[in-house]
Amino acid sequence: MEFSIITVDRLDSTQNYLIDLSNKTELQEGIVINALSQFKGVGQFENKWESESGKNLTFSLLLKPRFLNPASQFLLTQVLSLAISDYLLTQTDKPVSIKWPNDIYIGKKKICGILVKNQLLGTTFENSFCGIGLNVNQEKFPPLPNPTSLFLETGKEFNLNEALKAVLESINLRYNQLKEGKIETLERDYMKRLLYKDVFATYIYKGVEIEARIYDVNEYGHLLLKDREGNDICCELKEISFIHNVL
Ligand code: BTN
Repeated sequence: MEFSIITVDRLDSTQNYLIDLSNKTELQEGIVINALSQFKGVGQFENKWESESGKNLTFSLLLKPRFLNPASQFLLTQVLSLAISDYLLTQTDKPVSIKWPNDIYIGKKKICGILVKNQLLGTTFENSFCGIGLNVNQEKFPPLPNPTSLFLETGKEFNLNEALKAVLESINLRYNQLKEGKIETLERDYMKRLLYKDVFATYIYKGVEIEARIYDVNEYGHLLLKDREGNDICCELKEISFIHNVL
């Protein structure tokens, strides 16, 4: 895939900008809207995505996975999570993992958030807007739950343009695996990198604290866990939150 990167000083949100642009004009796959600063960055659950101006990567990439069955859209989430974590693994020896479904962690701290919005046309895939916020050179964060950056983890400053190109290259490699139908590889690698897989940890599930062990993710992207009694739990994103207490 050829990427065409459009870097803008300041935008409300690269995600909203790319979606609006694609509603007005036919865009090619691989277009990247990259902002040095966002004043209304959006995160999961309509949360704000805060990022210090000029310090981090905040960009949205357009993919057109028309070869993909809409029922398999979770594969795109896996592609992006694997690609970002592949890149981070080239930069640090620290443990890089994927917090289900698509937050990227170093140790117990979040370094990257991913927001995927898929557009379907009838029963075929049309567009996938992939918004990525990767903390690169930021040193200080507001008291959010548990953020980190590449700078904080490595002590090094990164060139943002080079980092963007390397991340896009990683996305290209994993996206090619998807195009080539290497689904088992993607699923296996995703499971290997999943945070708290096969260990008991504490979660809030449907408002109640539970102790459970992640053992799989199904094809629809639901998280599968077993509690201490061996009961199966199958949950969607909004039903569970991680406490980050490994037992
Ligand atoms: C999350 O909440 O974890 C997802 C965060 C996604 C943030 C990125 S930054 C680039 C793109 N533009 C936005 O407004 N949001 C996404």
